[in-house]
Amino acid sequence: MHIGILTGGGDAPGLNAVIRAVVVRALAGGHRVTGFLRGWKGVLENDAVDLDRDAVRGIHTQGGTILFSSRTNPGKVEDGYQRMLDNLKAAGVDCLVAVGGEDTLGVALKLSRMGMMVVGVPKTIDNDLSATDCTFGFDTAINRVMDALDELRTTAMSHERIMVVEIMGRHAGWMALYGGLAGGAHVILTPEREFETDQVCEVLKRRFAAGRRYAVVAVAEGAMDPQLARHVYHSSERDAFGHVQLGTGIGIGEVLKNEIADRTGIETRHVVLGHLQRGGAPSAFDRILGTRLGVKAVETAEAGETGKIVVLRGTSIKTADLEEAVGTLNTVPLDLCELADLFSDKG
Ligand code: F6P
Repeated sequence: MHIGILTGGGDAPGLNAVIRAVVVRALAGGHRVTGFLRGWKGVLENDAVDLDRDAVRGIHTQGGTILFSSRTNPGKVEDGYQRMLDNLKAAGVDCLVAVGGEDTLGVALKLSRMGMMVVGVPKTIDNDLSATDCTFGFDTAINRVMDALDELRTTAMSHERIMVVEIMGRHAGWMALYGGLAGGAHVILTPEREFETDQVCEVLKRRFAAGRRYAVVAVAEGAMDPQLARHVYHSSERDAFGHVQLGTGIGIGEVLKNEIADRTGIETRHVVLGHLQRGGAPSAFDRILGTRLGVKAVETAEAGETGKIVVLRGTSIKTADLEEAVGTLNTVPLDLCELADLFSDKG
C-alpha cells in the first residue's frame, strides 16, 4: 500500500512522533510512505518527499513537524478538491493520513466523501476535539503554561504585583484551566463563561487586603467580559478557514491588565505566552500518544477502513467516524470551571 501523510493547522508537540510512527509501522507492514509538505498545499501542488526510515530517525524527540504546516484551505482554491484527488491518484497514493485539527479534518472528511481513502489523526494543543479524550500536544502545552506561572509567581511576589497571563485557546479554556490549576493561578478565566471585570477586581482587592500581596490571573485568549470586547483588537485579516487571528493586535490579556490597574490601583503587568506554548520538545505523554495514534492510523488503513479518525478513549486507542471529529467542540464543562473556582480566590 502507498500511504500519504500531511500535517495541517497550527503545529503541536508530538506531530513528529506521529509521522515517525506512521513510517515505522508502514515500512514494517511492507508499505511505502510519501509526506506531503505544508498541509493541503502540498497535495494541491504535488509537493512531496519520500519518507524512509532514515528520514524519521529520532524525530519523535523534536517539536514542530518535519513536513511543515499551513492553514491552506482547498475550498478556497478553484477546483481545489478535484486537483487534490487527481494529484493523489497520479502519485499512486492509496490512503492519506491527515494529521490536524477541526479544519484539516473537515477537508479530510470531504475528500473521503469524494472517494479518497482517508484516516484522520486529531491534533491541537487546545484539546477541543470532542472525538478523542485528549489530543497530543495538550500535555506539553499545559506544562509550558504551568512552568510560566511558576516563574511569574516569584516575580509577582517580589514586586507585589498582579500578573495577567494570556493563554492560548480560542473557544475552549482547557489550557487556561489545566495550566492555571497546575500553576496555582488565583483567577482563571475561560471562554466558556463570560466574566465581569469588576468581580475579578473585587477578588484581587480582597486578596491584597488580606495580606496576600500578589496575584496571578490566567486568562484564555478567547475569554471575554462583554463590556471589554470593544477594546480588544485583532488584525482584520482572517485565516483561510475564516478564523480571527488571535495573538495579533491587542488581546484580552492586555485589555484586562489595563482595566485591573485602573480599577484597583494595584500595579499590574501582562504576559502573552503565545507560541512558546506550542514550540519545543514534546512531553513523554505526547510522544507516546502520538506514537500510538500513528501506529493505529496505519492499522486502520490496512484494515481498509476509510473516513475514520484514530482516537484516545480511556487508555485505549480506537477508531471513530471522521464526522464525529468535526462535529461539536469539546469545551470545558461547568463543573470543572467550578472546581477551578474552589482552588482560586474566586471560590
Ligand atoms: O489552534 C491552535 C492554536 O495554537 C490556537 O490556540 C491559537 O489561537 C492559534 O492556533 C494561533 O494560530 P497562529 O499560529 O496561526 O497564530
